[in-house]
Amino acid sequence: MSIVYENYDYENPILTGENGVEVDYKGKWKSEVFNNPGNLCLELACGRGEYTLALAKDNPNENFMGIDVKGARIWRGAKNALEQNLKNVRFLRTRIEQVDLFFDKGEVDEIWITFPDPFHGKDNRKLTHHKFLDRYKYLLKDGGWINFKTDDDNLFDYSLKSINSYQGANILYKNDDIYADELPFKELDYKTHYEKNHLAEGKKIKFIRFTL
Ligand SMILES: C[S@@+](CC[C@H](N)C(=O)[O-])C[C@H]1O[C@@H](n2cnc3c(N)ncnc32)[C@H](O)[C@@H]1O
Repeated sequence: MSIVYENYDYENPILTGENGVEVDYKGKWKSEVFNNPGNLCLELACGRGEYTLALAKDNPNENFMGIDVKGARIWRGAKNALEQNLKNVRFLRTRIEQVDLFFDKGEVDEIWITFPDPFHGKDNRKLTHHKFLDRYKYLLKDGGWINFKTDDDNLFDYSLKSINSYQGANILYKNDDIYADELPFKELDYKTHYEKNHLAEGKKIKFIRFTL
């Protein structure tokens, strides 16, 4: 069984599923793919999808999808999910620039963005640029929130400015050193591959939860 959907041709954004067969699940992920009306949560820049798997394990009645452009990482995450028999996990390999093409407006209940790159360089490539916030706003149901975790000071500061200057955005919680005190949400304690590396280097982990 394949739990990975892919879009190879960015000019022609058609998804393929098992055995390269074309699929279209826009508006139908819960009903036709997960067969579960529970919440749908996306992890963007998921890499190997550590957050996706941890959330799925702790919330068996909800649906989780990891999204990244890097195939090898996604396949590793999918293999782990299958080995752990997690029925509520899927992966989507695509560029986040076009993630809105594969979902209906308001189809998503919650988003995690975990240790995304790039941190420096052109702002319009950062996953908290207004260009990306527009896409997340389209995907999310009204009041659905975005969880953003990073180790990078520049990206954290840039993201705060970007969110604060986005019309209608509201920061629900922010912390520039989440492990300094007791965690306010237990999901913050899950650690990705990159997070473990950053912690080993002594970096502080930062977090923002916001609505758009
Ligand atoms: C530093 S890794 C973090 C991976 C994982 N979240 C973790 O914490 O271990 C950043 C990931 O963001 C993904 N990424 C960055 N920009 C992206 C974009 N525009 N579309 C899809 N994936 C993107 C990269 O492919 C990469 O896997």
